Amino acid sequence: MSDLSAAWARLSKAAEAAGSRRIDSLFSAEPDRLDRLVVAGAGLELDLSKQPWSLADLGVALDLARAADIEGARARFFAGEAVNSSEHRAALHMALRAPRGSDFKAQGQPVSGEVEAMRDRMAKFANGIRSGAHKGATGRPFRKVVHIGIGGSDFGPRLVWEALRPLESPIEVRYVANVDPSDLSFALSGLDPAETLVVVVSKTFTTQETMTNAKAARDWLRGALGQDGDKHLVAVSAALKETAAFGVPDDHVFGFGDWVGGRYSVWSPVGLSCVIGLGPEVFEAMLAGGAAMDAHFREAPLETNAPALLALAHIFNRNGMGRPVRAVVPYAQRLHLLPTYLQQLEMESNGKQVTPEGKPVQHHTAQAVFGDAGTNVQHAFFQLMHQGTDIIPTDFIAVREASEGDPAAQRILLSNVIAQAEALMVGKTEAEVRKELAAKGVSADEIETLAPQRTFPGDRPSAMILMDRLGPAELGALLALYEHKTFVEGVLWGINSFDQWGVELGKTLATRVLGELNGGAANPHDPSTARLIGKLKA
Ligand code: F6P
Repeated sequence: MSDLSAAWARLSKAAEAAGSRRIDSLFSAEPDRLDRLVVAGAGLELDLSKQPWSLADLGVALDLARAADIEGARARFFAGEAVNSSEHRAALHMALRAPRGSDFKAQGQPVSGEVEAMRDRMAKFANGIRSGAHKGATGRPFRKVVHIGIGGSDFGPRLVWEALRPLESPIEVRYVANVDPSDLSFALSGLDPAETLVVVVSKTFTTQETMTNAKAARDWLRGALGQDGDKHLVAVSAALKETAAFGVPDDHVFGFGDWVGGRYSVWSPVGLSCVIGLGPEVFEAMLAGGAAMDAHFREAPLETNAPALLALAHIFNRNGMGRPVRAVVPYAQRLHLLPTYLQQLEMESNGKQVTPEGKPVQHHTAQAVFGDAGTNVQHAFFQLMHQGTDIIPTDFIAVREASEGDPAAQRILLSNVIAQAEALMVGKTEAEVRKELAAKGVSADEIETLAPQRTFPGDRPSAMILMDRLGPAELGALLALYEHKTFVEGVLWGINSFDQWGVELGKTLATRVLGELNGGAANPHDPSTARLIGKLKA
């Protein structure tokens, strides 16, 4: 048995034992539990004390990380090696947010210089739009930005805008992703083309949804402004030939290298709508927050390394305790898109079943992630979280200070996140419930049926990520924390976290089906699919 297999076997054994004791029993047994399991990095605090592992189990998990050579993999990742082996590419999003003067190389090619030049160009462009110096075709300033993109070309910028947008903004940014024509219709409704800038974001500039929406938006501009409407188009892409063919003026094209993966691209020109909407200083502060987390991930020992520990905690639940689903619940309305963002980051990165060598993986890979903003979710799926038959670990995110509004409401919000994590772990025994019901004078017969229904088993794990405020630096650190946690998991599972072949088949079949819906020749299909095509074709 290899050292790595032996380390996995020890983790399974530790997790098996963890299943037969309660999390809350560990606090009295381990006086230094909080000291060891609350770590800080890049302005975030990560509390993993409500996880099912004991401190001895933590040691076992850290041994697994060492046996998988996390530190060596991390060094190769930061060195710009082709960690995306199936596409022969580096995955060097850290270079996009690095402090000025850094010297990142993607597969030996220096990239930091071009990254800095692009950051300056974006800032200049954004300042021109924001100040009104850069005008539209009719001489009026731009006041609205419509960002068109999907997946990694949408989730990150949309989340950043929602998280950081001012209450009143001189520039309004709207996002369109879905090819559902309603999405674009709503985004364009009420807008005047003369003061609207359309930013088309697509790494490949071939994505069906984005190109369909981009063409419709271009028609909308041209319909009002004639050929001059093209002056209101901006393209962000790694495919510069395609952007020229689309009619975007050269000085409105913002390129980036193929070493920027879609779901890791918010730090690149993909975030241009945020640079325009929020201002370059805010965007730069977000980059600095991401860079601070990079430094923490690179330098902190594994024992206090927030991304590594979060990955190990998730793996302890996922692989050790057989928990394939995880909830992410930010108690911050401004972060309500975080679960969606993480679905792509984690599930597209690590939803894999074979290794880069094409061999079956030895362990289950990515958890399914779901969630939404607290407190809303308490009135949706928390019944199941507390009393359902499955144990679903939760990541809570809490922010000390409100971004705006009444501090008293913020304290109510905070009381809820603290209480939910406590309730999930501690629960309420049947004996306590019986006592309470008896004190209220409930009959013995009713207590018999009610008590089990009102019992909370508890022992449901959570992680708590705490920040003082939701500023750009904290947001950057939070996103980088999850990026690196996803990387660590990928290394432990022995998969390539940076490709996504699993999205291809559906795209190919959709093109075939579209031909048929448009009246083209029938292709062979299973009977169920053929019936649907017959029913829905024009
Ligand atoms: O969902 C599949 C995907 O390929 C993602 O990886 C990517 O973020 C998204 O499509 C959009 O791709 P593009 O930026 O090339 O339009």
